[in-house]
Amino acid sequence: MSAVVITGTQWGDEGKGKIVDYLAARADVVVRFQGGSNAGHTVTVNGEEYKLRLLPSGILYPKTKCVIGNGVVLDPAVVLEEMDAMSSRGIDVSSIKISNRAHVVMPYHKLIDELNENLRAENKIGTTKRGIGPCYIDKDDRIGIRVCDLIDREEFASKLKTILPMKNLILEKVYNHAPLDFDAIVDEYSGYAQRLEPYVCDTISLLNDQLDCGKKILFEGAQATMLDIDYGTYPYVTASHPISGGVGVGAGVAPKKIDCVVGVVKAYCTRVGEGPFPTEQLNAIGDKLRECGHEFGTVTGRPRRTGWLDACVVRYAGQLSGIDYMAVTRLDILDSFDEIKMCVGYKLDGRLLNEIPASLKILARVEPVYETFEGWREPISDIRSYDELPSKAKKYLERMSEVTGIGLGIVSVGPNRDQTIVLKEII
Ligand code: GDP
Ligand code: IMO
Ligand code: MG
Repeated sequence: MSAVVITGTQWGDEGKGKIVDYLAARADVVVRFQGGSNAGHTVTVNGEEYKLRLLPSGILYPKTKCVIGNGVVLDPAVVLEEMDAMSSRGIDVSSIKISNRAHVVMPYHKLIDELNENLRAENKIGTTKRGIGPCYIDKDDRIGIRVCDLIDREEFASKLKTILPMKNLILEKVYNHAPLDFDAIVDEYSGYAQRLEPYVCDTISLLNDQLDCGKKILFEGAQATMLDIDYGTYPYVTASHPISGGVGVGAGVAPKKIDCVVGVVKAYCTRVGEGPFPTEQLNAIGDKLRECGHEFGTVTGRPRRTGWLDACVVRYAGQLSGIDYMAVTRLDILDSFDEIKMCVGYKLDGRLLNEIPASLKILARVEPVYETFEGWREPISDIRSYDELPSKAKKYLERMSEVTGIGLGIVSVGPNRDQTIVLKEII
């Protein structure tokens, strides 16, 4: 299949980076289409870890083109830092392409993200403070600065001349914060512009041309369904569309050109930041999941909240993104559990619900309906075929597929490339 979307089905950190890197061996292009440096995708090759925030997880293959699409909000300092870090590890970054239409994260975006969180106090969202929300707000408010403006020195200065006084007024009058200096920003950003210019192009025509020539493209989602601005647990969400529909607007590739959608499902569930999490385990089970899974955020280092797999959420992700196959990750983290639970439905006042409640007040009241599975209690990280998995593990996976209505495509039993069991050739 030539156009495949990889999307997160839960609250992020499902292992999208690992799955994209694995599939990228057979792809010509890997594209990020939304989000920004709030993403933290870890790819492990021969035991070496690469932490990616803006660079697509195809970067480790010399022949794969990596594209940062128009729907991404680009922090120039972060992308350059990542490119330098990759180069210093001997990875060629010369084929990276950055959309001239992507919006640029500015210093006031990061500052306002942080100041807003402080103002929200106990109602904070728990953002990554990377300026993601404020940058998308400016895009919608039509006061954003795009990459094509960044690399045009005159245009950049002229836009900033209008925008910065507006931002400084807000900083001073609303947040009681010192204003930002025009010249300092122009100086800093002109350095970034000079370095980034060679990578900037019209990625829309590039991607559509590649598809027309029969090339294989992977669209790498960041964040996940339950963090989607429309479909997630609003307002505890991010500011973009991580669902597969995000590809149309975030990469300029029409929905009818997508051949396959893969939903990445962590075998249990985690969440970073605030907001509802029906299957959260605020007990010894949650602690064990966090310890066994080393569940600490890549971007912020925060401990991740942990709980049992919520198949209702995965089923919802399947509907929203049209998921063809699941890539189940981190099954090995459950190796030492005597008992494993899966939420297969929500009950509200004794009645089974057919949907995920929009109201957070109602969502907070739902009772997860659990099915209990016997743990397999043996290490599975060295297993390389589905048939060799313990029957108790297969039972768990097969029930997951049954409840969500989505077929099993991949089962991952460790972070490395070879720790991947393929049930369906995807690309
Ligand atoms: P992403 O944001 O969805 O790309 O996920 P993260 O990279 O933030 O978190 C997933 C973590 O799990 C990373 O450290 C991966 O290397 C690791 N990982 C991915 N798949 C597996 C797996 O099957 N087993 C184990 N033990 N680790 C995995
Ligand atoms: P990957 O791609 C997990 C969460 C933040 C916060 C909310 C809003 O690695 O799966 P933002 O900074 O986006 O405005 O924060 O979204 N969040 C993530 N959680 N994984 C991510 O990315 C996330 N990106 C944002 O913790 O709750
Ligand atoms: Mg992550």
